[in-house]
Amino acid sequence: MGRKLTAYRMEDLKRIERAAIQRAESAKTAQEIATIRADVLGKKGELGTVLRSLGSLSAEERPKVGQQINTSKSRIEAALEAAMVRVEKGRLEEELVAGRFDVTLPGRVVTMGSPHPLRIVERDVIATLLPLGFTVAQGPLVEHDWYNFGALNFPPDHPARDQQDTLFVSDEVLLRTHTSNVQVRTMCKQKPPVRVLAPGMVFRRDELDATHSPTFHQIEGLWVDGHTTFAHLKGVLRRFAENLFGPETRVRFRPSFFPFTEPSTEMDVSCVGCGGTGGGCRICKGTGWLEILGAGMVDPAVLEAVGYDPEQVQGFAFGMGIERIAILRWGVEDIRLFYENDVRFLRQFSGNP
Ligand code: PHE
Repeated sequence: MGRKLTAYRMEDLKRIERAAIQRAESAKTAQEIATIRADVLGKKGELGTVLRSLGSLSAEERPKVGQQINTSKSRIEAALEAAMVRVEKGRLEEELVAGRFDVTLPGRVVTMGSPHPLRIVERDVIATLLPLGFTVAQGPLVEHDWYNFGALNFPPDHPARDQQDTLFVSDEVLLRTHTSNVQVRTMCKQKPPVRVLAPGMVFRRDELDATHSPTFHQIEGLWVDGHTTFAHLKGVLRRFAENLFGPETRVRFRPSFFPFTEPSTEMDVSCVGCGGTGGGCRICKGTGWLEILGAGMVDPAVLEAVGYDPEQVQGFAFGMGIERIAILRWGVEDIRLFYENDVRFLRQFSGNP
């Protein structure tokens, strides 16, 4: 009786195994394979049923059937595994075929960014001056009084040193009001000759409105060498204006004052709007001229402050606001547009004149 029952069970197992392997081989989806696994190997699956019936077998017969259960189980597992690999491979192939390159699809538009208008001006100013032997330098925005004012011959009671005009971090530390601090730092580090451009952000205590911003940008230049005269200053700046605003541009120099230059001047260029005729021009307000930059011969006191000998070397410096040039170039009516980063505004500047 026991033997017979064992023979039945063994047959059952072989049948279950064969059927399961067959189903696995013809399964077409991962879902189908999961179903087979549950049907056969699951808790209430076919093998489980045989396992639970082991109790009705004699102690000697039990291990034989038990062993067969294990063998069948691993064969079925292997078949399911193989089926899984096959199904997955097929799926990938199908995907590849389905997703093949459709040359009729419209291309994807790559939206290119464009440089910020202030960057464009900065870049162009630098580009017109690099051929004259200038290099570009940068310096800290948070600066010690000495680099921003002291070494630049600002007297202690100069209005720029007032809390009203300058943003102070502490008694002696401030947000730089011009990029002239880079001139001082360059001269402190380097022996003449010096030809350096200092572009960057500067800060002044102004209310933000259409024409003022407490943060704006400057670019300054410094040229120090043996035997440098006002003629060099004029030559370099005329060349600069012609390169930036066009070969027809005329320049004029008016006397001015800065603590760190003597003599000091302001340079005007013939108006980019009316070509200098004035009349009813809105850009130059009828004068025919636009004020572009401040400049002058470096004051001997500044050269001395940085350890240069004013008997041996002289220099000239100039500085301009980037925003102002951008406003003139593109007719921008509100300085705030430069800082709001509205793409509708920014998109209009390709960088090409
Ligand atoms: N630093 C001056 C300013 O911020 C500009 C300037 C630079 C003038 C160099 C003369 C020489 O207004």
